[in-house]
Amino acid sequence: MQQTTSLRYLTGITTSGTPHLGNYVGSIRPSVAASQGANATSFYFLADYHALIKCDEPARIQRSTLEIAASWLAAGLDPERVTFYRQSDIPQIPELTWFLTCVLGKGVLNRAHAYKAQVDKNTAAGVDADAEVTAGLFMYPVLMGADILMFKAHKVPVGRDQIQHIEMARDMAKGFNHLYGDLMVLPEALIEESVATLPGLDGRKMSKSYDNTIPLFSSRDQLKKLIAGIVTDSSAPGAAKQIEGSALFQIYQAFATPEETASMRRAYADGIAWGDAKQMLFERIDQDIAPMREHYHALMADPAKIEAILQAGASKATALSASFMGELRHAVGLRKLALPATAASKPEAAKTLLPSFKQYREADGQFHFKMISPEGKLLVQSHGFATPREAATAITSLQQQGAAAWPALQGKVQPLADVTSGEIEAALELLMNSIKIH
Ligand code: TRP
Repeated sequence: MQQTTSLRYLTGITTSGTPHLGNYVGSIRPSVAASQGANATSFYFLADYHALIKCDEPARIQRSTLEIAASWLAAGLDPERVTFYRQSDIPQIPELTWFLTCVLGKGVLNRAHAYKAQVDKNTAAGVDADAEVTAGLFMYPVLMGADILMFKAHKVPVGRDQIQHIEMARDMAKGFNHLYGDLMVLPEALIEESVATLPGLDGRKMSKSYDNTIPLFSSRDQLKKLIAGIVTDSSAPGAAKQIEGSALFQIYQAFATPEETASMRRAYADGIAWGDAKQMLFERIDQDIAPMREHYHALMADPAKIEAILQAGASKATALSASFMGELRHAVGLRKLALPATAASKPEAAKTLLPSFKQYREADGQFHFKMISPEGKLLVQSHGFATPREAATAITSLQQQGAAAWPALQGKVQPLADVTSGEIEAALELLMNSIKIH
């Protein structure tokens, strides 16, 4: 299946804390499930640049990156099937952030919820409106837009509180396309309807910032203790319980089957004691988490293994981001001076000037790539590689070394009757001239 024909999913988790049940239900679980879909191409990443906005403790950033990576892998993310990477390994992301900064109206950022909340708080306190607001917080949505637009994501699975950010990313894409041609894909938020936002111990949204979380990989004992601390009302055993506003019920529902939820609903009506309801919740969550726990601890004990997985992901991701950034740099006019000038008012021409790469998986399970000329002619068709990483490495070698990488690829590409070596060299030279080499 070619990458161009399948839907691309992308989501990130900020690496500033320990993954909790809210992250699992709202992001990790649906993302892993989507990545297992037959027709999906998925990008999952550790948003460590975003983490710097809220966290100035280096050790915590590093620890959190490790914990989150281990959590996703333990939850079943297969790094061979998806592109799993760390944001800060992709130098084109901050570069694209700048491009987007230059097309986005400042007023749009003034209206971002997180920024506005801080301004409202400051105003209410009678201090300067921007007190405690870093430029990083203000720019948060642009960095997030770059994450999404860099990989041409169609669907972005997020919690409801992130919808505005996805809409902003869409606006940035439209703004960019309007000026420079149809280069950006317009993303859409994907909200799992059955699971809105998981409440935390105190009934507010489960969030690191409210300190009301249940860590995803708590021990059984810890999990039980934490669940015992979920706020409930004071109704006595035997008295019918309210479902509305019950954090306990909502958390249960996020893990249970519809049948189990229905029976919990009946138990509420029949006046189940809170202690019994908490016991049921504990057993239900542990049933899902226990099988992953061992895997998680094994991964946590082997950081070098996780690092290697992330590096492999970064090499797959940069094969795409370096090539797309080459197109974008060309489109905005950051070009090698020897290239003929293309007017910005001719976006179609700008778009088609560079050869492109496609990486895809064939029915035999092998990973292939092809290089297509700006005019759409197939110039290079690879044989199968065992892993996506090998295919990506071959692409990167062509992008970064051009014709110099070509001899080493003989035997790995198919001879094409209607393509001359001169055509291939010219295409590789064009690419070398226009992409930024890292
Ligand atoms: N802002 C997201 C959150 O706090 C994390 C994030 C960063 C993200 N970049 C992203 C999510 C891109 C989806 C797509 O949850």
